[in-house]
Formats: sequence, C-alpha cells, structure tokens
Amino acid sequence: MALPENIILSANLKLLEPRLQGREAYAILDSNVQEPRLKALFRPDRIFKIEAGEAAKRMATVETLAARLLDAGADRDALLVGIGGGTTTDLTGLLAALYLRGVACALVPTTLLAQVDAAIGGKNGVNLEGYKNMLGTFRNPEFIYICPPLAETADDRGGIAEMLKTFLICDSAAYARAVVHFSAPLPRCAAERLALIRRAVEIKSNIVEEDFLDEGRRHILNLGHTFGHAIEKHTQGAVKHGDAVAMGIILAAETAVRLDEAEPALVERLKRDFAACGLPTESPVPREALIEAVAKDKKSRAGDVRFVLPVAVGRVIVQPLKPEELR
Ligand SMILES: NC(=O)c1ccc[n+]([C@@H]2O[C@H](COP(=O)([O-])OP(=O)(O)OC[C@H]3O[C@@H](n4cnc5c(N)ncnc54)[C@H](O)[C@@H]3O)[C@@H](O)[C@H]2O)c1
Repeated sequence: MALPENIILSANLKLLEPRLQGREAYAILDSNVQEPRLKALFRPDRIFKIEAGEAAKRMATVETLAARLLDAGADRDALLVGIGGGTTTDLTGLLAALYLRGVACALVPTTLLAQVDAAIGGKNGVNLEGYKNMLGTFRNPEFIYICPPLAETADDRGGIAEMLKTFLICDSAAYARAVVHFSAPLPRCAAERLALIRRAVEIKSNIVEEDFLDEGRRHILNLGHTFGHAIEKHTQGAVKHGDAVAMGIILAAETAVRLDEAEPALVERLKRDFAACGLPTESPVPREALIEAVAKDKKSRAGDVRFVLPVAVGRVIVQPLKPEELR
C-alpha cells in the first residue's frame, strides 16, 4: 500500500521549503509549536498564531482569522498552511474552504494525533454548542507534510489512541507492534515510530479513498468515537479527545461482549494493552448521562446510533442500536 501523492512523510523538514517557494503562503500556527525552522519559511507578517485547543475550535476563530487574512490582503492565490495539532488542522481546513469561497490549503501536523489521523482524510470543522465538528466540509488539502520529529515536544497519548484504533480495525500485526513500541520506556526507536505512522496513514488514506464523503465504509474509523464524543461533551473537554477515544473503544468492546459478538477476553486484552501504553480505560461519566449524550450525537439516524464495535483485534462490525437498547 503506498501513500497518496499529496502526503509527504519525512523526518527531514527541508523538503517543505520548495513546496512553499514562490507561493503567497500564510501560516496558521499553533502558538505551542516552537520550531524556528518552520517560522523561517514564512514572511513574519503572514504568520497568524492561535491558542490551539478545543476551545478555539469554533466559528468565531475562523471569522477572526478570515478578517486577519483580509487585512493582510490575502487573495485567491493564497495558500493557508495549518501548522499544529488536530484543532489547528481542522480549523485551517475549514478557513481555507470558506475564505473567498475556497483557497489552497496545506497541513503540517505537529502532534502524533494530527499526523496519524486529524490531518488525513479531508475532513475539517469546528464545534457548535459543545457538539463536536458540527460545522465543516470535506476537502482535501493540496499537501500534508508529516515530519514525525515535529511532534516530539507534544503529548503522544491522543495519537497512540487513534493509532491503536486504526490498527484495531484491520491490522492485528500492526496493533501488536504498536503496543510493544508505545509500552517501551523512552527513548523509543524513531525508525519504528516512523514505520507505525506510515502504516496508520496508509490504512486511513485507503479507507478514505473508498468513501471520501463518509457514506459507508469510512464510518468504521469512528470506532470509539460515539462514546468518546459523548465523554468529551459531558466533561466539557476535561477529558481530552484521545483519552475519550480510548475509553470509548473499551465501552464499544464491552457492548460487543454484551451482544455476544466478542469474547470477554477481548475487553481484558484491550484494557491491558491500553494501560501499558499509558491510556485510560475507565470512563468517568455515569452510563445514563453517556447514553443521553450518545442519543444526541450527530451520527444518530432515525433514532438508531450506528456503533462500530470491535469483535476481535483487527476486526470490527457496524451495529445500529437504539439508545433504549444501549441502556
Ligand atoms: N479531521 C479529522 O478527521 C480528525 C480526526 C481525529 C481528530 N480530529 C480532531 O483533532 C483534535 C485533537 O487534536 P490534538 O490532540 O492534536 O489537539 P490540539 O490541536 O488541541 O493539540 C493538543 C495540544 O498540543 C499542543 N501542541 C501542538 N503541537 C505541539 C508541539 N509540537 N509541541 C508542543 N505542543 C504542541 C497544542 O497547542 C495543544 O495545546 C480534536 O478537535 C479532534 O476532533 C480530527
């Protein structure tokens, strides 16, 4: 499986420069990204810093950034480069889709989560009224530049959760390798990290290519996200996305066991593996509150929620369930 043409995966940041040369490039830069070589690639007046995080992922930030682009004279030739974690790449993708009815976009993800998941697949968006990603578009960036060392200063937990999710869906060997890698003490092997990132990006890109608009197969990538989003909503973001996904996967596995679709040993294995990788396994949210939040989830269709349930390591099923059945 090869990477799509618009994805560059390299530990060498130098390959980014020629892609920006001669372009009217604006950086939407996560203020926690300190790498000076990145900033040096942009005119100082074309670097717009944002305080990234879930609270910034809203329409007001998109409007503020659009006004700054307007002030700076950004025209239809502009290339917006989102540099940061998943909130920055999601925001930049939406801003680029809306500004002047669409300008070019590039993404430079700087957290493991954004490198293996958020920046891949063309989904962008912001939250509304505490509900995740309610406003957004599907639009592929011109290119995505994944440079694993850029994420060295960021927390890996969310990325580990999304990576294990991707492997749990369809690659049991990669799942086992990832558990060995991420449960090993620091410093870990950089070459193995790069190989695991490549595999996760390949799998996600491949699934997305089959179903860009998320009308069928792509739905399996939501493993852990239905409960996960409900946990994020209920805790008002106190539980971060990756941790919520890890808890959501365990809840989905427990649901699969209740439905006789999986063996209880699966739940035990996932709990053991996740804990070894530093991920939480127990949701702090009472079940009744979770069910209520799930019922309101945007993926709810005619009262049924389409759950992605792990039935073995490397295999999932999609099961529509009514909130009453969940109870
Ligand atoms: N579009 C998609 O398909 C998709 C998929 C998965 C997740 N997401 C979204 O991604 C978001 C989560 O992404 P995230 O976990 O990267 O969160 P984030 O963007 O909020 O980043 C987490 C924290 O890390 C900081 N940070 C970023 N890069 C850093 C670096 N190199 N060094 C030090 N600190 C750094 C940020 O400032 C922030 O404080 C959620 O909003 C989620 O909905 C989107």
